[in-house]
Amino acid sequence: MTVKKPTYYITTPIYYPSSNLHIGHTYCTVMADAMARFKRLSGYDVMFLTGTDEHGQKIQEKAKEKNVTPKAYVDDIVSGIKDLWSTMEISYDHFIRTTDDYHIDRVQKIFMKMYEKGDIYKSEYEGLYCTPCESFWTENQLEKGCCPDCGRGVNKAKEEAYFFRLSNYQDKLLDLLENNKEFLQPDSRRNEMISFIKQGLEDLCISRSTFDWGIPVPIDEKHVIYVWLDALSNYITALGYPDAMSDYNKFWPADIHLVGKEIVRFHSIIWPAMLMSIEEPLPKKVLGHGWLLIDGGKMSKSKGNVVDPVFLIERYGVDALKYFLLREYSFGQDGIFTNEIMLKRMNYDLSNDLGNLVSRTVSMIEKYNDGIVPKSYGEDEFDKSLKEIAITAGKNVEKEMDNFTFNVALEEIWILVRRANKYIDEKMPWILAKDESKKKELDTCLHNLSEAIRIISILIYPFMHNTSAKIRTQMGLIDEKIDWKDAFSFDMLGEIKVKKGDAIFPRLDIDKELEELEAIKEANMKAASEKENQNNELELKPEIEFEDFEKIDLRVGKIIKAEKHPKADKLLVFQVEMGSEVRQIISGVAKDFTPEEMLGKSIVVVANLKPIKLRGLESKGMIIFADNGERLEIVETCAESGNPVA
Ligand code: MSP
Repeated sequence: MTVKKPTYYITTPIYYPSSNLHIGHTYCTVMADAMARFKRLSGYDVMFLTGTDEHGQKIQEKAKEKNVTPKAYVDDIVSGIKDLWSTMEISYDHFIRTTDDYHIDRVQKIFMKMYEKGDIYKSEYEGLYCTPCESFWTENQLEKGCCPDCGRGVNKAKEEAYFFRLSNYQDKLLDLLENNKEFLQPDSRRNEMISFIKQGLEDLCISRSTFDWGIPVPIDEKHVIYVWLDALSNYITALGYPDAMSDYNKFWPADIHLVGKEIVRFHSIIWPAMLMSIEEPLPKKVLGHGWLLIDGGKMSKSKGNVVDPVFLIERYGVDALKYFLLREYSFGQDGIFTNEIMLKRMNYDLSNDLGNLVSRTVSMIEKYNDGIVPKSYGEDEFDKSLKEIAITAGKNVEKEMDNFTFNVALEEIWILVRRANKYIDEKMPWILAKDESKKKELDTCLHNLSEAIRIISILIYPFMHNTSAKIRTQMGLIDEKIDWKDAFSFDMLGEIKVKKGDAIFPRLDIDKELEELEAIKEANMKAASEKENQNNELELKPEIEFEDFEKIDLRVGKIIKAEKHPKADKLLVFQVEMGSEVRQIISGVAKDFTPEEMLGKSIVVVANLKPIKLRGLESKGMIIFADNGERLEIVETCAESGNPVA
């Protein structure tokens, strides 16, 4: 009789194929991979899903810029993403593309279920739209007048659209987040979401008609389904929902959705509401991880400081990179990437601690016992302490993996690695070897070290399976099946033959490496800034007619009062005299100017811009500033206030 294994379903976000993925994106996938491997090794039937989120206006625009069809554009990038996962040896079980026919068909079926439930209605949407994020926002949701997710500017947009009655689910969602603490972690994100819901959930606009690169709304082909509704559905369409239910019945609800912090809202509010609408179970847990930052901010292609995982893998190997990502950063918090931190981790932990332990042990077994792992005889206090740490490490790793604290799980393993190294120094086998009467003590020492290394080779497998295999090859264990349970017992090894191989992690000359990496980084940044400068000359907005330009009324204004916005740190509120009129204009320039600096300046104003409210105060017009790359500069004039600028 075969025993049915417990199942485990883990997902990563599906990535936008809008450019090549950087090390920040790989962080989430590396965590999911380690967890999937850990669960498989400890006896679970695992489904590990990843994929690409390929629809939406942004992709359509990028394809247009390149003069190719959206499908040709995404095909190319998706194949690069698949190559990256293969280079990184990511053990996903299924790769979903939202352009796959089965997904398109199933998303339409999901839409219809929500529609038939009475949760979708047609209306008109007027809002503030962030094109890069493909999100509509209300004024209250904006941060300093900009998109709260990406910080970029938003435009007013109005369209006929279909809406999802998200507001109907407000109470149930609040109950979920308040009373099921496990549903969303870490707590800081859960609290953010609770206050977001408490501000009141508005119905969600779930269709677009201003572009067509998306899944058609089944009841109205003029509209395409909102990318987030399309993308979130991937977690169940990949399992066959709603028409080929065997994997769905087996794996749903998901055990874990791993997501970055900025998309927690979609996963812990919109996604559960969609599932409530189609009356399907909710995922067991959403985990929001932090971001990898560089130079104090986001990695950016235009700055040229994007860290390329393939480059690092070619130089240091895939296991070293995975180890660094999993060991260095704490789940849930942002972390800083620097070459120095990475190189130190690789050298100290991998080359010094782990590499040395294996090479010293194998060399000593070859030297003192003809390459055969000896038997053990008896136990002194050092042996006892090593054994105890070795057989309890697995339990500690399990506990940490349950909390997704990969860094602590690895630290638990390294407690054993360092203990074993210390054991060598305590036992001093080279001294024992000089005295024939100490042969049994020497044998015991080498045996215990081999056992500790065998256990380490199992414990590190989920994180660094290649290194595990290299160690097991040197220890003569490669033909034996790896089994997690074997990490809990000592004294399993027979008299097997070891064989010294190459250093598993060659030592790095940190100063030299650092110099080279920093030089490469600087060159990349220089090239990016040159490219950016060239692009600035060339990449203009589309041409406009003179009549369009004539619609803009530019006037000279004089700032007669300037103060900080009471509710927004980035905004300054100006009273601007224009001829006989005084009007209020708000600008997002508090970072670059104090109110005192602006007082009395004669500036250029877009005077006929429709007034808007920014954080509760009206702004009538816009002051023109020049961007010098680092900060804004005032565009001053000495003409009379109220005069036209032509
Ligand atoms: N397509 C959506 C997800 C839809 S899931 C139904 C998306 N794609 S993304 O490509 O922009 O981002 C994918 C993931 O990469 C997100 O979880 C995001 O947090 C993560 N990261 C992007 N840059 C990152 C870092 N610098 N550091 C860590 N994770 C980062 O959002």
